[in-house]
Amino acid sequence: MSDPVKQNAVGEVSIDASRRDFIKKSAMVGVGAAAANLPLSMLASEPALVDGVTIERLNDLKLNINGKDHALSVDTRTSLLDALREQLDMTGSKKGCDHGQCGACTVMIDGRRTLSCLTLAAMCDGRKVTTIEGIATGETLHPMQAAFIEYDGMQCGYCTPGQICSAIAMLQEAKNGDASHVTANVQSVARDQKLTRDEIRERMSGNICRCGAYNNIVDAIENVQAGKGGKR
Ligand code: FES
Ligand code: FES
Repeated sequence: MSDPVKQNAVGEVSIDASRRDFIKKSAMVGVGAAAANLPLSMLASEPALVDGVTIERLNDLKLNINGKDHALSVDTRTSLLDALREQLDMTGSKKGCDHGQCGACTVMIDGRRTLSCLTLAAMCDGRKVTTIEGIATGETLHPMQAAFIEYDGMQCGYCTPGQICSAIAMLQEAKNGDASHVTANVQSVARDQKLTRDEIRERMSGNICRCGAYNNIVDAIENVQAGKGGKR
């Protein structure tokens, strides 16, 4: 077989046509193989017009919400909160401030409480999201929901979905032995901590209640922590 790379008398190198063709095809196969390894969410499309609004780039995502997979296309800048409320009609998670300051939008992602207004939907691709709509089991309320009702842990109810999601995950954090700002010694935090009212208040301080139902919210959380399941 003749050498595809040739050198002339003055040292100039040339590549014949078949060699060039081979290199070009190899490069294309390489790009294709690399693309095939990218997650779907990284293969964003070009700008699109949706409902008269120019969307810069769309991400195709698969979100597992309350145990059910949802496929959706979102602008890369869409928050999880907006994807839930505007695209999936799951309006249980509330938009209070949209700035990470009130906790009304709290959901759980892979079991950890998270502010959905500060989380991009694209970051949740393939992760498990739990919202207030997925807390109960059929017609049976979650013990935290039952306790909020039993102890009047709400007035207008606007902050309540976020409070409940946050409280459930917060008690799990205490079980896991996670420290908080009021933990006396962060180097020796025990698992299965029984939280005092002050600790509950501190750990729930990211969830604001404009109606001031705080005492009753803490009562409800203490009830669940004591394993009473919402019954006095
Ligand atoms: S709406 Fe997310 S923290 Fe207020
Ligand atoms: S119950 Fe009204 S904001 Fe909390």
